[in-house]
Amino acid sequence: MRNNRLSNIYDRRTVIRSNEVVADGHYLLRCECAEIAQHARPGQFIHVMVSQDTGMLLRRPFTIYTVDGHEITMLYQIIGEGTKRLSEMPVGEPLHVLGPLGNTFDFITHPEPAILVGGGAGIASLMLLATALRKNGIETIGLVGAQRQERLLSVADLEAIGITVHIATDDGSIGHHGYVTDTLIDLLEKMNWHRPTIYACGPHGMLSVVAKIAANYGVPTQIAMENRMGCAMGVCLGCVCPVRTDTDTIEYQRVCTEGPVFNATDIVWDI
Ligand SMILES: Cc1cc2nc3c(=O)[nH]c(=O)nc-3n(C[C@H](O)[C@H](O)[C@H](O)COP(=O)(O)OP(=O)(O)OC[C@H]3O[C@@H](n4cnc5c(N)ncnc54)[C@H](O)[C@@H]3O)c2cc1C
Ligand code: FES
Repeated sequence: MRNNRLSNIYDRRTVIRSNEVVADGHYLLRCECAEIAQHARPGQFIHVMVSQDTGMLLRRPFTIYTVDGHEITMLYQIIGEGTKRLSEMPVGEPLHVLGPLGNTFDFITHPEPAILVGGGAGIASLMLLATALRKNGIETIGLVGAQRQERLLSVADLEAIGITVHIATDDGSIGHHGYVTDTLIDLLEKMNWHRPTIYACGPHGMLSVVAKIAANYGVPTQIAMENRMGCAMGVCLGCVCPVRTDTDTIEYQRVCTEGPVFNATDIVWDI
């Protein structure tokens, strides 16, 4: 069990500095939030108010993608009304941002390879971690999956910090033709490491496969869950996921406060 939630949380009104398309249906939004930038840790997220219209009052959660001085970015996919509206917001538009929220990825500073597995927009949750791993001199390999080449994310950003990236696309338009989890098996079969660690984020089905592969190969794995959220403050219980406790019972934990990062072996995948 892990619970390393940090305590500094800020509710800030900022303005959008840039909000640009980076791939088909995906945008990178940049804004200034000095305190959030200062306290953000890998895996943590912000809760963003997209609109104050009736029906849009719930904030939307997004992982902090990068931190640069007083600025943070978020990389997001258009899914529904909230993210569509967000994509239409121009530079200079005010934005309410709450964060940094949630717990963080743990990493040990052994010179052992870290394997990042990102499916679709899930790779966004691994970028701040990727930066921290490289800053600590940890060899890191990125496995990035997308439906097709036009929707591929973050490859250049990962390569720019010295990460070797293997790509998989569902339609075979670039890289391995198939799932990103195929490239994980391939890597674990070919490589002869002492103690790799896997960090993963993506669709629930992909994450459950990553957890099974990790268990088969005995590789410790941390997973960032992206359940739908209401309050993001631990109150509404809208985000819970089933987790196996130390006494081997199952309890529902809040992804917003006990997560979003869990050990893959703690999550009960088949409920
Ligand atoms: C901790 C956390 C971090 C996240 N980080 C990122 C990120 O960095 N980049 C990114 O692109 N997305 C991220 N997400 C997902 C993002 O929050 C949702 O895609 C967004 O809230 C959808 O809002 P919407 O108004 O566009 O869609 P809605 O109109 O709310 O929903 C549209 C449809 O998508 C489904 N849906 C909405 N949210 C989710 C979800 N989380 N899981 C499964 N189905 C969903 C709904 O059931 C509905 O069918 C994160 C989620 C969490 C919990
Ligand atoms: S979103 Fe309300 S408890 Fe997690």
